[in-house]
This record gives sequence, C-alpha cells and structure tokens, in this order.
Amino acid sequence: MNPYGYFDDAAREYVITRPDTPLPWLNYLGSDEYFGLCTNTAGGYTFWKDAKLRRISRYRYNNMPMDLGGRYLYVRDGDVVWNPGWKPTKTALDHYECRHGLGYTKIVGRKDSVEVELLFFVPPGENTEVWKTTIRNTGDVAKSITLFSFIEFCLFEANNDMTNYQRTYSIGEVEVEGAGIYHKTEYRERRNHYALFGCTRPVDGFDTSRDAFVGVHNGLNDPDVPLRGKSRNSIGHGWNPIGSHQINLTLAPGASESFAFILAYVEQGDEPKFDKRFVMNKSVGRAELERYSRPGAVDAAFAKVEAYWDNLLARFQTECPDPHASRMLNTWNQYQCMATFNLSRSASLFETGIGRGMGFRDSNQDILGFVHMIPERARQRILDIASTQLVDGTCYHQYQPLTKKGNAEIGGNFNDDHLWLVLSTASYLRETGDRSILDAAIGYADVPGSTDSLLHHLETSIAYTLRERGPHRLPLIGHADWNDCLNLNCFSTEPNESFQLIGDVEGSKAESVMIAGLFLYAAREMVSMYKWLGRPADADRVQSYYDDMLATVEEQAWDGEWYIRAFDAAGNPVGSKSCEEGKIFIESQAWCVLGGAGASNGRAKQAMESVHKYLYTPDGIILQQPAYSEYHLELGEISSYPPGYKENAGIFCHNNTWINLGWCLLGDGDRALEYYLSICPSAKEDKIDTYRCEPYVYAQMIAGRDADTPGEAKNSWLTGTAAWTFLSVSQGLLGIQPSYEGLRVDPCIPKSWPGFSVSRMYRGTTYNITVDNPSGICQGVRRMTVDGVVVDGNVIPPSASGGMVDVRVVLGA
Ligand code: GLC
Ligand code: GLC
Repeated sequence: MNPYGYFDDAAREYVITRPDTPLPWLNYLGSDEYFGLCTNTAGGYTFWKDAKLRRISRYRYNNMPMDLGGRYLYVRDGDVVWNPGWKPTKTALDHYECRHGLGYTKIVGRKDSVEVELLFFVPPGENTEVWKTTIRNTGDVAKSITLFSFIEFCLFEANNDMTNYQRTYSIGEVEVEGAGIYHKTEYRERRNHYALFGCTRPVDGFDTSRDAFVGVHNGLNDPDVPLRGKSRNSIGHGWNPIGSHQINLTLAPGASESFAFILAYVEQGDEPKFDKRFVMNKSVGRAELERYSRPGAVDAAFAKVEAYWDNLLARFQTECPDPHASRMLNTWNQYQCMATFNLSRSASLFETGIGRGMGFRDSNQDILGFVHMIPERARQRILDIASTQLVDGTCYHQYQPLTKKGNAEIGGNFNDDHLWLVLSTASYLRETGDRSILDAAIGYADVPGSTDSLLHHLETSIAYTLRERGPHRLPLIGHADWNDCLNLNCFSTEPNESFQLIGDVEGSKAESVMIAGLFLYAAREMVSMYKWLGRPADADRVQSYYDDMLATVEEQAWDGEWYIRAFDAAGNPVGSKSCEEGKIFIESQAWCVLGGAGASNGRAKQAMESVHKYLYTPDGIILQQPAYSEYHLELGEISSYPPGYKENAGIFCHNNTWINLGWCLLGDGDRALEYYLSICPSAKEDKIDTYRCEPYVYAQMIAGRDADTPGEAKNSWLTGTAAWTFLSVSQGLLGIQPSYEGLRVDPCIPKSWPGFSVSRMYRGTTYNITVDNPSGICQGVRRMTVDGVVVDGNVIPPSASGGMVDVRVVLGA
C-alpha cells in the first residue's frame, strides 16, 4: 500500500491523496514547444522550447522546502489564507487531491466549505498554459472570499536571471491592461516576444512588483498582499516582476464559479512592436486572452489534450497478465517517452534546464521509445542531431534546442555518441519504411555550408569507430563512453576541474569494450539496412567490419566468466577478475550480448549468468561490483561517488533494460520479467517511503546495496530508462518488433503466462495481435494466422489496408 496515492488506471491518472509526498512528485504540461513542470503542490515553472533561453516563470532549484515557487492561488476566507495545493502557506486543508494525468494536473483543495479546483494544461500546438479554476461553496451559508493568483516572471534567460543581479534588478518591465499582465523585460531592445498572465474574468486588483506583493521580508508562505487582503495595484520597475490578480467572489450555498487564468508566451511576429513610445502593441496577447474568455473555449481546449493522448496511446496498447507491465506500457511509459523525447535531460526536478541542453546519445536513445508515436517528429529530430556531427565522425556531446547548435564548452570525443545515430535511424526505418530519410541532406557542424546524406553520416560514424582503435584493436574510449563517469583519459587531481574534459593523458590509448559491443549492434543494423535497400555489396562490406570486431572482442575481451569492461590508459583491464574493485560491469555484458558476441560459444549465456550471480538484486542490477571504495585517478568520476550511488555501484536503471533485452535474446522470459519488475516504479508502491520518487515514471538511479540508503531512487523522469524499458518490454518481452520486412512477433514471456494481446498501429494499419501460450513456454512461435490465413514464419506481411488486421499467434515447440 502506498499511503500517498494510487493509480487510477481507467482514468490514466495517478491520484495523490496527501500533499507531503516523500519527494515532490512531478508532472509535465505541454508536448510540443511550450512546457510546464508541475508538482503535486502546484510548484514548478514554464518555458518555451528551451528552459535556458526562453524561461517564462521563475524557479529556484533545491530550495527549502525543496519545491517552492509555482502556479499559486491564495484563497482568503475571513482571516485565513490557504492554497488548494497546500503549499506555500501549508494551511491545513479539509480535503486535498492531486491528479496527475496525461498533459494535465488537477489539484483540488477544500477548506471550510470552499472548494477550489485548479486544472493546469497546455493545449496541443499552443504556447499557452491554461489554469481552469473552479470555486464551489459546498456549505450551507453564503461565502465571500478573495483570491490572489501568483506567478513570478523569469527574465527569459535563466542563467542570467539567477546570477547577474547587478543587471537584472534594473531591467524588469511590465504593463497592465484590464485583466492582462504583460511581462516585457528586454522587449524594447532585442526581444520580439513577451509573456502574458491574464484572467478570463474581470479582476478587482493586481500586482506586478514582488516586493509589493510578497514584501521584502516575507516569503511565499506569508505574502503580504493576501495577508492584508487587498492588492496594491503595483507596477514593477526593475527588481522582480510578478503577476498577481485579485478576485472577490461571493458564492451562495451550493453555487460555483468557473473561469481561467492563462500564462502565454507571445511572439510579436510582424506586428508593429509599439502603439506609442513605451507602450507595447499588445494586440496578439490581447486576442489570446479574448479567445480564452469566450464561453466554452477552455473546455474545448482541454478536450483537445484528452483527444491528443487518446490518439497517441492507441498506437500501442496491451492486455498482459502483469498489472505493472500493463499500466506502465499502456500509459506511463509512453508518456515518459514523450517527456524524454522533448526535453532530453534538460529540465526536471534534478536537472535545472540550464546545464545540459539536449544530449547527443541521450536524444538518439530517446527516439527509440518515441518513434512509434509521432514518426514525423522523430525524423526531424534525427536530422537535427545528425547536423551536430563533425566531419571526422565524432559529434557534439550536447546541443541547445533553441539554436540547434553544438555546445562548444563540452565539445565532442565521447566515443560512443556517433554510434547511437545508427540505432535511432534504424528504428525510424523499421517503424516507417521511409527510406527517403537516408538521402536527406545535412551538413557537418565543423564544415560550414557542407551537405551530405544521412546515410553518409552513418557511414562516417562506423568509420570513426573502425579507425580509432587502440592496442587491443578495441575502440578508443575518448572522454568517456555511455558511462560518462568512466574517465580513463583524464587524471584529475584538482577538485575544480571537469572529470571528462581535463587534458587527455599524453598518448593515452584507453579502450572500451562497451563501444565494441555497441559497434557490433550498430554494424548489424547497417547490414540489415543495406540488404533491405538492395545493396548486397555494402551489406557484405559492413558485415566484414562486424566479423573483424567480433573476433577482436572474443580474442581480447573475454575474462573467463564475463566480458572485460575496458582497458585503461596503462593498458590494464577495468572490470576484470584481476581487478580488486570493479571486477564486473553491466555495460560490456549487455552490449557484447546484444551485439551477438558469445552467441555461438556459450559466452553470452555465461556472461548473463555472471550478471545474475554478482550484480542482480531485488532492487535492480548494480552497475558494477565491488564498489570502488577509494578514488582512482586512472578511472575518474566513477570512483568519486560514495559506494552504492550513481555509476559507483548504484542501480542505473537505464542499463538494466539492456540486460533484460539480453535475457529475451537468450529466451528466458522469467528472468526478463523478474528483472523488469525489480526497477519498475509501479511495483515500488509498498516501499514508497524508501523509494521516494514518483511511482509512475522510471528513475535514472536507485541506490545499490553498498549505499547507506539502499533502494532509494533519484533522478526520475528524464532518463534513458524510459525509452529502453519501452523497448525491452514491448519488443523484448511481448516481442512486437518493427522490422524492415514488417511487424515481427517473437515474444519471450514468463512460462506461467497463458498469453496476452497487443493492439499495435504500424505503418498506418492497426494489428490486433493475440498470443496464446498453451504449452507454457517462454519463446518460440509455432503458428501464426493473419486475418484467418496461416502464414510462414513470424513476420506479419505488410498491409496497406489502413484498417484493422487480426493476428493470432500460438507459441510452441
Ligand atoms: C546520464 C547521462 C547519459 C549517460 C548516463 C551514464 O544518464 O544523461 O548520457 O549515458 O548518465 O553515465
Ligand atoms: C552522467 C552521470 C553523472 C555525471 C555526468 C557528467 O550524467 O550520470 O553522474 O556527473 O554524466 O559528468
């Protein structure tokens, strides 16, 4: 039992029944360009496209309390001031409920017979956040109350906003027109956009100066204006602009009133900027507020959010015997895949939206779990990412979503990055069959004006890894591979330098077995792709690269019971029985196995059994064992974490999923499900006070058994776990695999499962697939019929019908 809430599966909501959750539990609003972070107490902030360069409302991370600042509504009833989401006043409520749904959050608070419902959402395709507000008098006497809305504006560039007070305290500018509060800082000079915080009903007062509303010596828990009960109608000049409306309401017993606040990002476009000197032309914003003030407009906009998600999720739905797997796959996992696709690792409660932009490897992997929902957007993203590749094959490790330019501070030379581009492109091709993407012309980031085909970018990626190899003929690791904290080339002794970027050790030839495995996987993708394209010579050529790397891996990287992880700058093995600590790692087992190593000589099975013996725990698979107990200069950041956390023997959920796929490859569906459940948040509800993060989305990390807080999760939401879990369960366990030839059905399920069904939209047709498991096995399709006709093998022939196709599958020997 989870004392904080429960899943309402039918409504696709997670319902939080008390506000003091073990950590703030987050939801996201918006799915195109305008995004809001919204916690269960209405905390969070909003931005347009880029949390660093276009932040609309302000948020101070790691505050006390941790989550402070957001979309607040203060209710003043007599002398009592309260918030429907409990915070910031924390006045005790008679009733509280928060429903995190798909693209919306609904918070209801009630006190002394006044019930306030706030429904926050961003309609698809719009740059406006709507707060539908409903006030009900649930008692039997009339009520007169005063409401005060509150938002603190961010001066758009979030880094400057939080650091450069000598400037920012002097630049803030606002205008007020009726119920519209316009935040126009820097609009007079280089900005052609502004923010609008408006109300769809007439207001009885307003404030735009934080000092006037909150008070210099007060906080959001005891803001001056709600306490005194009257707005000051302040106009902010510099300092900190805010938006607040005062609304006086009298409600008869049983009566209710509904209206909305809107928070919009407005681009001025070609409209003249000013009506007259110092007075901005507000026509675009004014029209937006008018549009939402029309009867029915708010509800119609919300209906669009619901329809949007109904449509998207209908592309993949399953009924399977495991309730956690079903609800996560059908709803929350796909929803989280949208968030990671949109935001990469940029803006969550653990990422400030300022540091990282979009990650090259991260975004490529995010596509794997997203491509079935909106392939067109995946296509564009692949092209954007590819254009941050350099002509030698390496790529910018990160880029800024607004400018789509590589981040020069961090640069390239993370030697796994470019290979993930092969995986994302292949997943797009297998999903859509749209080969035109391979001809799309995209430049290399370091050659202005260059254009080359995407296919050539993929070849450049393959060539880079083939070329950049070390003494064991394994790929050089560069700054790091997938494990950002395995820093074999930079011996950092200064606390104030970056583990990844400090000057490379002279002549270092540190190598990565994980990259070798990833290369095998990518090369095999290329071979299949060339065969499908009807280019057998190219398929053979890439096959020969594969064979060569496979031989190298088998000769150089086998340690007796598992695959070595890497060779350090001195040529010593990392992740070998000869090491004192860090003897065995997940990543090399996973990628060697997924890449086809050990398939013919029993090593794959042995490597996986070693994972089970040394790394598996009921809370997930530990990244490596034994944990590093001291700092190792030659290994870098990995040994900087206390044992059991993050890359130092934490449970990194992301790479757990690769092992789960490995079990499916080996045909062990029982292990695959058991491992899956070990990191599944929905299965953590009975130990939620230990786990602490949201039970509806995967976390990046769970503290391992070496930690002092084993089982405690961190870094929820923005993690590669989202996309990879979707793959490991939908394609591995349930075995619904998009392939070049068509949809393949190759389940690997627990023996006890009698069967399951999946409805999958693929290339425009919906396949209703029923799988029966009469003889209680894990893997093996005995018979498949498509619309009643028996077909050979287990690939559903592509159908151009655009309608429904009935597929029956029977497992058996
Ligand atoms: C983080 C990074 C990801 C990296 C992983 C392991 O999740 O976003 O790029 O692969 O950590 O270090
Ligand atoms: C990854 C790791 C994190 C590390 C970062 C870069 O995201 O998860 O531990 O700090 O890379 O240094």
